[in-house]
Amino acid sequence: MKLLFIGDVVGSPGRDMIQEYLPKLKEKYRPHITVINGENAASGRGITEKIYRSFLEWGAQAVTMGNHTWDNRDIFNFIDEAKYLVRPANFPDGVPGEGMKFLKFNQHEIAVINLQARTFMPDLDCPFKKADELVAEARKKTPIIFVDFHGEATSEKQAMGWFLDGKVTAVVGTHTHVQTADNRILPAGTAYISDVGMTGPYDAILGVEREAVIHRFLTSLPVRFEVPKEGRTLLSGVLLEIDEKTGKAKKIERILINEDHPFYH
Ligand SMILES: [Fe+2]
Ligand SMILES: [Fe+2]
Repeated sequence: MKLLFIGDVVGSPGRDMIQEYLPKLKEKYRPHITVINGENAASGRGITEKIYRSFLEWGAQAVTMGNHTWDNRDIFNFIDEAKYLVRPANFPDGVPGEGMKFLKFNQHEIAVINLQARTFMPDLDCPFKKADELVAEARKKTPIIFVDFHGEATSEKQAMGWFLDGKVTAVVGTHTHVQTADNRILPAGTAYISDVGMTGPYDAILGVEREAVIHRFLTSLPVRFEVPKEGRTLLSGVLLEIDEKTGKAKKIERILINEDHPFYH
């Protein structure tokens, strides 16, 4: 079985990349399941129902989130009914949405889990203890468990990878918007990468207009971050090959599409 995951989609340039390249990626790799991180899909901040639905229409089976989950207020109008939207599971008890969803394909099931790290990030419930709980729950149903671990520090992400090695199919990092080259299969069969990278503006700073970010570094003044509407774009993702009987990963391949790394069919 194959799973395609695409990292943080930023604004309309990111959405355009999904619309253009998801069909091509599907044709090339033939994934059974496609998951997209959509925490920045609405102008860099959160997601709307319309965008969530278009991701499903364009061929995703689930959308994961992160620290920007609540940034667009439209989320509160549809999260309760959004069967395929997964927000960080270690948000405080009682907030809307869910941190684990089950998807069906052929005769199999896959659990999709989203967790948020805590180093240099808002303080949440312990993602490691939450992971333990959810994995125990998921394994009653299926050995195929995909984890999007949304975090800043590579140390915390590596710790999660090793913590879950052999217990889940994959731990893939999101949030830094920069793809790391450390994709590997850990010894007990869990696929790992510290960060998948982002999808959206290429000549920007993590998907945000450069001038504002540089101005902030120069002056420490507050600035408004905008996603540039024009310019070159990139797409970042990973492709997983999974043994569906054991839930172990066989391969994790990086996908990077931009003008310096053109897409070959
Ligand atoms: Fe992000
Ligand atoms: Fe994030």
